[in-house]
Amino acid sequence: MNPNPQIIILDAGGQYCHLEARKVRDLGVYAEVRASETPAEELSGARGLIISGGPSSVYDSGSPTVDPAIFSSGQAVLGICYGQQVMAHLLGGEVRRGEKGEYGMATLELDETNDPMFAGLSGRQQIWMSHRDLVGRVPEGFSVAGHTDTCAVAAIADRARRLYGVQFHPEVVHTARGLEYLANFVLKVCGCVPDWDPRHRVPLIEQEIRDCVGGRKVFFFVSGGVDSSVAFALATRALGEDRVRGVYVDTGLMRDGETDFVRRVRGLAVERAENEFLSVLAGVTDPEKKRHIIGEEFVLVQERVIEREGLMGHDWMLGQGTIYPDTIESGGTAKAALIKTHHNRVAGIQKLIASGRIVEPLRSFYKDEVRAVGRELGLPAELLNRHPFPGPGLAIRCLCSPNDAEVVASAEGHIIPVRSVGVQGDSRSYAPVLAIDALDTRRATDLTNRLTNVNRVIAPVEMRAPWSGMRVRACSLTADRLAKLRQADAVARCLSHESGYDAKVWQFPVILIPLGTAEAPDSVVLRPVDSVDGMTAQSVLMDGALLQAMCRRILEIEGVAGVFYDLTHKPPGTIEWE
Ligand code: XMP
Repeated sequence: MNPNPQIIILDAGGQYCHLEARKVRDLGVYAEVRASETPAEELSGARGLIISGGPSSVYDSGSPTVDPAIFSSGQAVLGICYGQQVMAHLLGGEVRRGEKGEYGMATLELDETNDPMFAGLSGRQQIWMSHRDLVGRVPEGFSVAGHTDTCAVAAIADRARRLYGVQFHPEVVHTARGLEYLANFVLKVCGCVPDWDPRHRVPLIEQEIRDCVGGRKVFFFVSGGVDSSVAFALATRALGEDRVRGVYVDTGLMRDGETDFVRRVRGLAVERAENEFLSVLAGVTDPEKKRHIIGEEFVLVQERVIEREGLMGHDWMLGQGTIYPDTIESGGTAKAALIKTHHNRVAGIQKLIASGRIVEPLRSFYKDEVRAVGRELGLPAELLNRHPFPGPGLAIRCLCSPNDAEVVASAEGHIIPVRSVGVQGDSRSYAPVLAIDALDTRRATDLTNRLTNVNRVIAPVEMRAPWSGMRVRACSLTADRLAKLRQADAVARCLSHESGYDAKVWQFPVILIPLGTAEAPDSVVLRPVDSVDGMTAQSVLMDGALLQAMCRRILEIEGVAGVFYDLTHKPPGTIEWE
């Protein structure tokens, strides 16, 4: 059993609510996320509440709100960004639209105060802002504790009632002293006592697994990623090897050496299905169709394994590596839930879930905590530090085209007629890609903001032919093209590992696009990104010498005409290309 949360984060739809919970847990205090409108009486066990940021305006109809009773419950409350505005609005203050927005770095001037919330923090400091609305007038009982040049009310306090608000985001790294604000609130204002260290929870999780499983056995479909591997290792420790079975499906869409890695590091049974996946994908070029076909094929292979091994019998349960952000469906986290569901759709699996025959030992943990648990279990760093890798594998990094098509020169660069996915609002949309002539992230951002016909901007690192000799060629997913992509990906992975670059980026997809010449029909795109949780991401440039070395080795691969660099942030360009 987890402790009762001492801090509850009320999720007002911001992508940062999980980050806030994680940072509180990093202080050693157990925190959980709940829907913003949760009734006050259901929150009464917590010592303090944090209302998260969110994209809405308090005056929009249907915008997230909180139960006003939380402000008179006696609990301490901290409103962050939108959370500060909701608090001010509900307590009789005024929120209005700012003359201009304030996005990114800003300088906060925090007044000298002896309030524990701001202890030791007065003076000028770098903060990170993301807002247009602001508090125009504070509610009765509150005072203004800090301001910026653009925002007169950047921090508010009602010490008597222990109600606080900050317009900036203390949870992001760009707020220089952000953790100190959170620590002041959690430890000094709320008086929380440290009660959380994921490493110490290993024996408790094992006991939970034993209680849940009873005399039965557990099977996992393990992907080779961190979560399912740690969950599998915990179950094996809790129940013994004879009562846990792990199956890894080799779709043939995996990276170089992946199946060997899984065999070596995890000792799993491998279900080979490469030929089946390749044959159902033959001739398919539409990205969404590819994803769908892969999902369906996965289901068939899983069903085959379940049937053959008799896993639907009553003595079996399903084990899964579900982690905390996957369990909460709200504004910023719905997508994570969606991503996971498509591998869990097998009818048999649905039946197991419906009848409660499922064990998810990591469902209250964040990724970093899963890694800490994995370290405690002695799992190797090469497994725990792996970058995320999508279920459909290299298939969604190997772009296809239904027809030949010309590259079109435009005022900004060259439009490459492949279809790459991006996010606009909540929906995925496909658009061609713009190539500009320099590795200039700022210009790329400016262009994606301005142009409506592209959602992604790349730049050549090196091309073996001039633009006049390059075109897009009709092609689908073949063993040859997958092998080419696998080679390019292996080069990028090997060099970024040797140089330590892989530890600096969150994920580093390598993509094959059907752009080239008759002799060398494909090009490779490098897409290293920085991110917190994959929901948003920044394109990051790499060191010139490393890039040149990578490019040189990739161009040695037969049939590769050029190496490009993806300069697009997310939004508008997703991390993956399909
Ligand atoms: P996007 O491309 O949406 O990706 O920016 C965000 C994160 O999700 C991963 N991803 C997937 N993971 N199955 C998965 O298990 C999928 O179908 C899938 N699609 C995207 C992606 O690698 C990134 O980490």
